[in-house]
Amino acid sequence: MLNAAKKPIDNVYFEDQQPDVTDSRDEILAGLKARQKRINPKYFYDERGSELFEQITETPEYYPTRTELSILDLYAEEMAEYCGTECVLIEPGSGSSEKVRLLLDALRPAAYVPLDISADFLYQSAVRLGREFPWLTVHAICADFSDQWQAPDLLPDGKRVVFYPGSTIGNMEPDIAKVFLSQLREITGEEGGVLIGVDLHKSEAVLNKAYNDDQGVTAEFNLNVLNQMNRMLEADFDANVFSHRAFYNTSQQRIEMHLVSKKQHSVCIENEYIEFEEGETIHTENSYKYTLDSFSELAHGAGFAVRQSWLDEQSLFSVHYLEVTRL
Ligand code: AVJ
Repeated sequence: MLNAAKKPIDNVYFEDQQPDVTDSRDEILAGLKARQKRINPKYFYDERGSELFEQITETPEYYPTRTELSILDLYAEEMAEYCGTECVLIEPGSGSSEKVRLLLDALRPAAYVPLDISADFLYQSAVRLGREFPWLTVHAICADFSDQWQAPDLLPDGKRVVFYPGSTIGNMEPDIAKVFLSQLREITGEEGGVLIGVDLHKSEAVLNKAYNDDQGVTAEFNLNVLNQMNRMLEADFDANVFSHRAFYNTSQQRIEMHLVSKKQHSVCIENEYIEFEEGETIHTENSYKYTLDSFSELAHGAGFAVRQSWLDEQSLFSVHYLEVTRL
């Protein structure tokens, strides 16, 4: 783990706490050897994948991002009342840091801590944000937030608020999401809070469209994970031999994304062969959808209470302020 804090501009710090790739290899190999082959969706976000995700958010079918942005824009002042002034705002999986821009003027945080796995993308986003908001101190940390990372030493005092938009929580199985949320209490302490975006259960047609856009951007995003595998594992995946499949699994209330092998073939990883049958899939992502009740129940199980919820007019998406439950 590297730990050299860089200071590209006056108000921006950048720390690299990225885990070594060899740490990830065993986990990836185990997933590819399982009966239902799987790849953790966090590997989507190499530089190209992060770009493609940005493009997904601009497709007409993918409603979550623009809906959440409109909610943040409309209710920023109210959200600021819950977060308090001069909080330390921590964002796991910050990506382009586009959403936080809508809150900064209302919140005036003492510091903003974006965490992301994609180093170059994070670096560029942090510098751009620092230039745009010269009064804001940015402490960017390149890390896998689902793994271990350390808060910078230099952070100011003040209430800790975790900003977790985008329904990234939906990528986790509900029991994992519960563990993840309960671990956030280590960051928030008793006094802090969580401002979290959660995608809502809705008509299957709308959900299926959102993950099967007409331009095929989501398909390209899904297939791109194989390039990342080739780079990380010295594998020889051929993206042309796989196709994109995404569908709503009603009983589990989740979108599933898979890569379907178009033919029987084998892929060489280091010196091992992984066999694929025709039609066999790699499960690349789950995206769980919640109702207000099912999310509130999840939060409760993790030791948080929903203090306020904000929705768009069509109830497509929700943003919640959570506080630690007092016993
Ligand atoms: C960023 C994880 C919330 O699940 O909707 C978009 C990722 N995958 N299209 C989601 C994604 C396919 C997205 N999250």
